[in-house]
Amino acid sequence: LSTTEIDISKIAPGQAIKSSFRKQPLFVRNLTPKEIGEANDVDVGSLRDPQTLAERTKPGKENWLITLGVCTHLGCVPLGAGEGENKGPFGGYFCPCHGSAYDTAGRIRQGPAPQNLHVPDYTFTSDTVVTVG
Ligand code: FES
Repeated sequence: LSTTEIDISKIAPGQAIKSSFRKQPLFVRNLTPKEIGEANDVDVGSLRDPQTLAERTKPGKENWLITLGVCTHLGCVPLGAGEGENKGPFGGYFCPCHGSAYDTAGRIRQGPAPQNLHVPDYTFTSDTVVTVG
């Protein structure tokens, strides 16, 4: 299966870009310290799909949230990756199809989606390049 290389050098803190991986949308987000704090302040036991931010990122790189841009309800592409887009009530991503809201760790917080946005396999090839797949 193919891999995808993504240049993350131009993604500023607080910004998210939409790329693609194996024909699916892929979101790459550079979390601010505030967004990391918000993710870590959540009581994980209260979550529908309990995962910590650390479990969804790489050690020492927890500001880089890399997920598929595919809502786990029925597969729409959530908003929030791009300038001025609607991040929804939990500050991460918002799926306009049926109102699923994801937080700054890409975890489902409200609406019908059953799971967090999926995290694909990836590695940091360097400080500025991520290889997905
Ligand atoms: Fe996203 Fe239904 S497809 S809420």
